[in-house]
Amino acid sequence: MSSPLTRRTASVRSVLTRPWVGPLAVVTVVFLVLSLPPYLGLDPSRSRVAIPEDRPLYYPMLATHIFLGTVALVTGCLQVWPWLRRRHPAVHRWSGRVYVFGGVLPAGAAVLFVAPFGEFGPAQQTGNTLLAVLWLLVTVAGYRAARRRQFVAHREWMVRSVALSFSIVANRLWIVACLAVFTPEALTGATPDPATFAQAVGVSTWLSWVVNLLVAEWWLQRGRFRERARGGTVRARREAGTPAGA
Ligand code: HEM
Repeated sequence: MSSPLTRRTASVRSVLTRPWVGPLAVVTVVFLVLSLPPYLGLDPSRSRVAIPEDRPLYYPMLATHIFLGTVALVTGCLQVWPWLRRRHPAVHRWSGRVYVFGGVLPAGAAVLFVAPFGEFGPAQQTGNTLLAVLWLLVTVAGYRAARRRQFVAHREWMVRSVALSFSIVANRLWIVACLAVFTPEALTGATPDPATFAQAVGVSTWLSWVVNLLVAEWWLQRGRFRERARGGTVRARREAGTPAGA
């Protein structure tokens, strides 16, 4: 049985060897602290997103999306924390259920009433709508794989799902980069050309999730490659008669 000191050392090592766990949590908190306040009073006039007057469901669905998206981001951070997964599998299972049923599925469904009507035109509308549909499908695939006890597939789908959840955070960076490229005057407070501004928003919408998904695929591919290399070494050692730990 492991002592408290061994467990503590293991948890410190787990954080140190996964240097993204802490920064991810910090980035999430910063994002939420900056993004949520205008929506906390449920006052449509404080929304940073323009509310179409002819769509009564738009604001309630946007607010639902934002609050339940918050649940998805917070539980998403917990889900990708290897130490928690290994040490407290029951917490991982429960926070996973909250991620799926209290976060992604209702937040993704709600945003389907918002995304197709974005104010910046077809590139933004199609980019966000496709993202919402993929977010739902990928998360359902991950949940089904867990129910079938296909844990390798479960992990892979959930890495993709969390990558899509965090596309909203990436978007905050991409929008600044795209404005700097397309219409730098927008960053200095000057009024930009509306069509160029819409172009920048459209491109940043797509980059936010496509790049995250590509990084997730690269990460998964690297894991598979390492696993195969490790399997090859173990096989070679077995054939040479050398014990695995030697
Ligand atoms: C991954 C799937 C997601 C999709 C498809 C999506 C889509 C959208 C859309 C269409 C809007 C309306 C504004 C616009 O037209 O651009 C919006 C706004 C917003 N979303 Fe999401 N979102 C997603 C995930 C999240 C998550 C996980 C959060 C976490 C809290 C979040 C927080 C927000 C916030 C705070 C706004 C208001 C925008 C602002 O105040 O700048 N979204 N989202």
